[in-house]
Amino acid sequence: MFYPEELIEEVRMKNDIVDVISGYVRLTKKGNNHWGLCPFHNEKSPSFAVSGNKQMYHCFGCGVSGNVYTFVMGYENYTFPEAVKMLAGRAGVNLPEVEYTEEMRRKENKRARLLEVNKEAAKFFYYQLRSKHGEIGHQYLEKRQLTEETMKKFGLGYAGKNGAYLVQYLRQKGFEDELIKEAGLASFSETRGLVSQFWNRVMFPIQDVNHRVIGFGGRVMGDGEPKYLNSPETPIFDKRRNLYGLNFARTARSGNIIICEGYMDVIAMHQAGFTQAVASLGTAFTSEQASLLHRYTENVLLAYDSDGAGVKAALRSIGILREAGLSAKVINMHPFKDPDEFMKHLGREAFQERIDQAENSFFFEIRVLEREYDLKDPESKTSFYREIAGKLCAFSEEVERENYLQAVADKYLIGFDKLRGLVNSYAAKTGLARPIERPRSGVQQKNAPQENGKKSQRLLLTWLTDEPQVYGKIKRYISPGDFTEDLYQKVAVRLFADMEKGNYNPAGIISMFTDEEEQREAASLFHTSLPKLETRQEQEKAFRDIVLSVKRNSYEYYTSKLGTDVNALKQVIEGKKALEELARTHISLD
Ligand code: GTP
Ligand code: MN
Repeated sequence: MFYPEELIEEVRMKNDIVDVISGYVRLTKKGNNHWGLCPFHNEKSPSFAVSGNKQMYHCFGCGVSGNVYTFVMGYENYTFPEAVKMLAGRAGVNLPEVEYTEEMRRKENKRARLLEVNKEAAKFFYYQLRSKHGEIGHQYLEKRQLTEETMKKFGLGYAGKNGAYLVQYLRQKGFEDELIKEAGLASFSETRGLVSQFWNRVMFPIQDVNHRVIGFGGRVMGDGEPKYLNSPETPIFDKRRNLYGLNFARTARSGNIIICEGYMDVIAMHQAGFTQAVASLGTAFTSEQASLLHRYTENVLLAYDSDGAGVKAALRSIGILREAGLSAKVINMHPFKDPDEFMKHLGREAFQERIDQAENSFFFEIRVLEREYDLKDPESKTSFYREIAGKLCAFSEEVERENYLQAVADKYLIGFDKLRGLVNSYAAKTGLARPIERPRSGVQQKNAPQENGKKSQRLLLTWLTDEPQVYGKIKRYISPGDFTEDLYQKVAVRLFADMEKGNYNPAGIISMFTDEEEQREAASLFHTSLPKLETRQEQEKAFRDIVLSVKRNSYEYYTSKLGTDVNALKQVIEGKKALEELARTHISLD
């Protein structure tokens, strides 16, 4: 833990969750909750609920939940300590510096220093572009039809012909040579000492989602090589996990995100009003970038170059996006090379039309494939159909596969049954399509005893926080030790102690955990969907079943631990007694 727990609690309590979230999402009060459009998935009607009483949020659409910390972490892409800092600042709470270990502080310091030196360098380039030395760069950008406003929005700059100036400037600002080198801004030359890495280039600062400069791309003006020079990877610049333009695109709220190939494409798109455009950082699109995008959208459009390399890149990205559960469509740029050129010639309305007509990624794949075959030649045609069948097998969900099967059959005038026959024989041969579908969630494990035991534990924790008065009824049967999952038990220990004192506080429990994954899981414990039952009688029966199930699971668990766990015997004896008692007891909920 970076800060003492009391301080984390203090900061949390001083940041009312409804206030904080209102700064990001428009909320309307209805009943006990405030409702809005979920910022973590795409939706048209509000299923995102914020509870002032519980100081928690929960989305009934995508299932996310948490407290004010997890919200800020999710929305701002902050780590836990960054979220604490931000909210402490917001509430005017002073944080001590001392809680870092030496090692952590060194790392944090290094990151902070790298961010600072990049920021200073960005400033330097920015002013250069607007100075006498930078005229040539400014003219270049003007020729590429960028407005002053666009240059400013993206913080564009210019690295002058004399590579010593940047280094001088940074040294003056107090940065050590070692750091300047580590940031990839300069390198050491035997003859000239430390000199700027970027030289006579227009500069594109690369920002993370919080608008912090983490690296640079520099474009040569004219035809030099390499056309673009990018900063190397550093502790703050991970090319696999960032996207150019995402700092703006993530709040575009356009219902989709458009991936382009180049920085200039992104900038041209934003200038034309498509502020949802992003690009990868001079490397191929990665699965990490796909999951990053998944936080903001379900729908991705590809606006790659229309040449062979662009098509190849699109095919690769489609696979990665599909893997990440995102739906992808491909924008046709023809007859232009890339979005930048398209925008210059045809403008925004024409581009919007291309967005509306974007091709489903599966059909795009098939169409590209088709080019390799001669459909007039029966043998070649058969091979093409087999390839299609192979692709169809990749859909593991039956409904989806059948839908695509139908659509492809219609489009290529292949008989539906014939194509299905091919798919089945392909699947049988390669063992690809699974005859029994795997559901996407973990639902198939429903009947596994372990899974049932866990579920009852979750249900009981949710029930307790929803109707805290039942705590008094169950405490003689259930103790925190009955929660056999490690994380559930930690939560229960604290929740039971709080309830004993009469002031329970689920939002505070979540921030006992510093790991983001654990916070998410802890938060979900308070939002398991309880059975919807009409009468109090039915509810009481359901509740008793849950209590019994938790106790039975615990009894079995500790029985299996007899001899290896010193607490087991006590738990088993108590468990047996409680189970007998529960069997003949009615628990009233009122
Ligand atoms: P412009 O010619 O300025 O319009 O470039 P573009 O935006 O059309 O870029 P292009 O399609 O040529 O390249 C797409 C992206 O690939 C660029 O934004 C860079 O990130 C990267 N890239 C291009 N050329 C190079 C290069 O020579 N070296 C490296 N490392 N990356 C490059
Ligand atoms: Mn271009």
